[in-house]
Amino acid sequence: MGNSIAIDGPAGAGKSTIAKLVAKELGFIYVDTGAMYRAMALYLIRKGIDRNDSAQIEKACEDADISISYEDGKQVVLLFDENVNDYLRTEEVGNMASISSANPKVREKLVALQQKLAAQKDVVMDGRDIGTVVLPDSKFKIYLTASAHVRAKRRYDELVLKGEKADLSKIEADITERDERDMTREHSPLKQAEDAVVIDSSDMSVEEVKDAILAEAEKRL
Ligand code: DC
Repeated sequence: MGNSIAIDGPAGAGKSTIAKLVAKELGFIYVDTGAMYRAMALYLIRKGIDRNDSAQIEKACEDADISISYEDGKQVVLLFDENVNDYLRTEEVGNMASISSANPKVREKLVALQQKLAAQKDVVMDGRDIGTVVLPDSKFKIYLTASAHVRAKRRYDELVLKGEKADLSKIEADITERDERDMTREHSPLKQAEDAVVIDSSDMSVEEVKDAILAEAEKRL
């Protein structure tokens, strides 16, 4: 197994932004596991599968061919060899992913892919169960969080910047609902690993969070 940093936390806590910066600084590969769950969700949506039909989800999951490659250091998610990165960040896909990722068959398949990647490379991997399930032996686990309001505001600003319409209270309600689902599901719920360092980024800049992690990484890795 390579060196690893495992970053877990709720949606919108800044995990991917921070993980990318830390990975670049350390020369590690950034692995975005949420994108894998999103690719699976995209596949289910394209197949017209009902999000509450777990038997159909399990059947489709067996057929789904999801893999990861890297282009200029950027993770590319391939669904049957199609680069689907551009389709993963919609609210529709995010909401489906939050539901389908609760399915144990979906998790089993994607966890195996994640563990294979971490066995081959030094990784900064982010998700919900990285420190608890995927890389339980990682020497550096982080639980990155922020208040629901701050996370919603960040997402809102992102959408406005892209020129998209956004409703802050709707985003905050969605985030709270997704947190609830991610934290209370039966299989691999989002929870802090006992040995994780907790960082609440509500009042911290990206730079401050990155520096705190790099300082700690120096001691642990
Ligand atoms: O981090 P994200 O918003 O891209 O994740 C999309 C969904 O996938 C989210 O609802 C939780 C789920 N997920 C998961 O269950 N386990 C992971 N390791 C990563 C994401």
